[in-house]
Amino acid sequence: MLQFRRIDRPLDPSPPGDSPAAAAEAAIRALRDARTQRAAASGGLVRGLEALDRRLRTSTLERLDREDVSAERKLAIVKALHTLNARLFSYHRFLGAIAPLVRRVNQEEGRPARVVELAAGYGELTLRAPALARAKGLELEITGTDIVPEYLERGRAEARRRGVAASFEHLDAFRMDVEPGRFDIAVIAQSMHHFSAGGLATMISESRRVIRHGFVGVDGHRSLLLLWAVPFYALTLGAGARVDFAHDAFISGRRFWTESELELLARVGAPDAEVSVRTSHPGYSVLTVDFAGGRVGRSGATGSARTERSRP
Ligand SMILES: C[S@@+](CC[C@H](N)C(=O)[O-])C[C@H]1O[C@@H](n2cnc3c(N)ncnc32)[C@H](O)[C@@H]1O
Repeated sequence: MLQFRRIDRPLDPSPPGDSPAAAAEAAIRALRDARTQRAAASGGLVRGLEALDRRLRTSTLERLDREDVSAERKLAIVKALHTLNARLFSYHRFLGAIAPLVRRVNQEEGRPARVVELAAGYGELTLRAPALARAKGLELEITGTDIVPEYLERGRAEARRRGVAASFEHLDAFRMDVEPGRFDIAVIAQSMHHFSAGGLATMISESRRVIRHGFVGVDGHRSLLLLWAVPFYALTLGAGARVDFAHDAFISGRRFWTESELELLARVGAPDAEVSVRTSHPGYSVLTVDFAGGRVGRSGATGSARTERSRP
């Protein structure tokens, strides 16, 4: 209901000379302005939904992103998110999102794919990915990264305790201080809405610089359903952080990107990549930015974008 597929149009995303961050902010403004005009011309329900969508958007930070919230409280929030993920089998779906790129590396290069998880939070995708991949006949090596030391410590301790071959490192997704070519695939789950348009395009541009095969982002599907359903569900969880988690879930629902916005930001961040976006029902949008061919550090002006949806 809040995707505006029928009225959003692809835009030329990159005025020459702009940084990815500046180009992304300008491109998102232009996309939304054009959407407002088309919605006004359409009238009726579309006009009403577009006006609601504008009112819902917020720059309010989630408690997870606030400097005045303690690391202990944040850890409880990401733990609550993990509980929800486990109940909804979300980790299977996140692994499914990177599976095509993992398979390509396995088949073309005859070795495990080297995956970096950005903004890994509680770390469970990184911890579970090796076993989930094996169950699909895939091979990967994975490193979970974040900027919060307490999450990384928790991830390392759990990897040791469970005997999982996964490592955890500090990495700021806006400045990827890793050797180009060290990783084949970057994956980010349930976090793209935490970042501004400029931040997300910068992250994709940084991935294009250092990652060989592609960037995959999975995040909540912008919709009226997710706006109320996840906060409501969060309140029913027995976790200590349920009020914080319900608050953040409601802010998340207001911040999720539409699929046309995700596509545009990816085209700004990686103009030479093949971009696809699909809806993974229920609840997720999956963005794949394929750097096809495994060449690291290339930047170019030509690219292609394709939007796919598993359902109309
Ligand atoms: C919603 S949480 C992570 C959720 C986790 N991926 C999951 O699926 O359970 C968002 C994460 O973004 C991380 N983060 C925020 N800014 C970041 C940055 N500049 N670089 C890397 N991670 C960042 C936060 O520390 C937090 O762990």
